Amino acid sequence: MNKQIILLPGDGVGKEIMESAKLVLNTVASEFGHSFTFHQHAIGGDAIDQSGTPLPEDTIKACKHGDAILLGAVGGEKWDSLPGHMRPEKGLLGIRKELGLFANLRPVKGFTPLLHASPLKEDVIKDSDILIIRELTGGLYFGKPSERRENGNAVVDTLYYHRSEMERIIDKAFQSARLRNKQLTSVDKANVLESSRMWREVVNEKSKDYPDVTVEHLLVDAAAMKLITQPNRFDVIVTENLFGDILSDEASVLTGSLGMLPSASVRSDGVGLYEPVHGSAPDIAGKGIANPLGMILSAALMLRHSFGLEEEASEIEEAVYNSLEQGYHTPDLHIKGGKQVGTKEMTKIVVESLTTKSVSNSICSM
Ligand code: NAD
Ligand code: IPM
Ligand code: MN
Repeated sequence: MNKQIILLPGDGVGKEIMESAKLVLNTVASEFGHSFTFHQHAIGGDAIDQSGTPLPEDTIKACKHGDAILLGAVGGEKWDSLPGHMRPEKGLLGIRKELGLFANLRPVKGFTPLLHASPLKEDVIKDSDILIIRELTGGLYFGKPSERRENGNAVVDTLYYHRSEMERIIDKAFQSARLRNKQLTSVDKANVLESSRMWREVVNEKSKDYPDVTVEHLLVDAAAMKLITQPNRFDVIVTENLFGDILSDEASVLTGSLGMLPSASVRSDGVGLYEPVHGSAPDIAGKGIANPLGMILSAALMLRHSFGLEEEASEIEEAVYNSLEQGYHTPDLHIKGGKQVGTKEMTKIVVESLTTKSVSNSICSM
């Protein structure tokens, strides 16, 4: 298989972990006889420094022509005082919107060797396997107006959703639930927000098309609590943009580290951008200690969902599992004993175990 992959390393640890993804993909390519050609482009702070804009035209063009996109992370203190429309984060929001990537799939499944790495009790997190589906191109992130008023003393952000935007993400969630344990939890704030009341309405309407899927509604505050007290009661969670952003970082605690979580940002035709859930981690950037596994697992999601390479994707997931089982881990994972290593060494160990197939531990069907 011959594929053109667009790489957007971005800022901070984004650059470091992108090198890990490249190494792993090159290994998969040579092992399975594929040809992956990488095309690297600037986004975020990196692009601001190079060309004065967080999302240059040539980056957009490359993303539209590539077979899939891998993104590291954007942002950093250096650009924090820029006006909103010029910030690195605008580059990421812009590419998601430009490509119509309305569904962000964030699988949260703990690896058994990391059960004791979480601050939560092992018997609480055991067997948890959640897919968070976050609406990605609407809501408060994109509503207009978003501005300061009254000489800078008042402010407005707008939460806008069209019914059709709700329908497509909720459909996606029902379809994913069908492929999994057929339990869908819709999270909203319907006791306060009009947008949430419409969201709930759409979920109830759609549920008639999926009688085999059990639906529950949770208010977001209670959902945040249940996510870490009873995580194994969840299968698929669907929610709007901002709630999904917050709940997924919270859910990462189940896996031992935010650095473990991959994600796929997709639209209906399979086009996808794959990115770890975490950010540019300025507190550890440049130290060579970032956890590359969320990025590597994102590359696996790309192989599975954009290229249909199930075996190759599972091999990467197994290699990650085996590396952790041998005790290797980056410092963000608080594992008793084991061998603490940096980004490059961790990547090397995953690459080495890529040829050793033993434990089957596919992290996600979506
Ligand atoms: P963050 O996700 O960058 O970091 C939060 C904490 O998790 C930090 O302590 C960090 O060291 C740790 N962490 C994150 N990824 C890690 C990894 N791979 N290995 C080990 N530890 C890891 O969130 P933040 O500090 O709130 O934000 C920093 C910058 O990143 C901001 O500019 C923010 O806008 C941006 N951001 C970007 C994305 C993205 O590009 N997708 C996502 C979130 C935040
Ligand atoms: C994420 C990030 C982004 C978001 C930011 C950097 C715009 O937190 O991908 O989770 O909020 O979507
Ligand atoms: Mn986030």
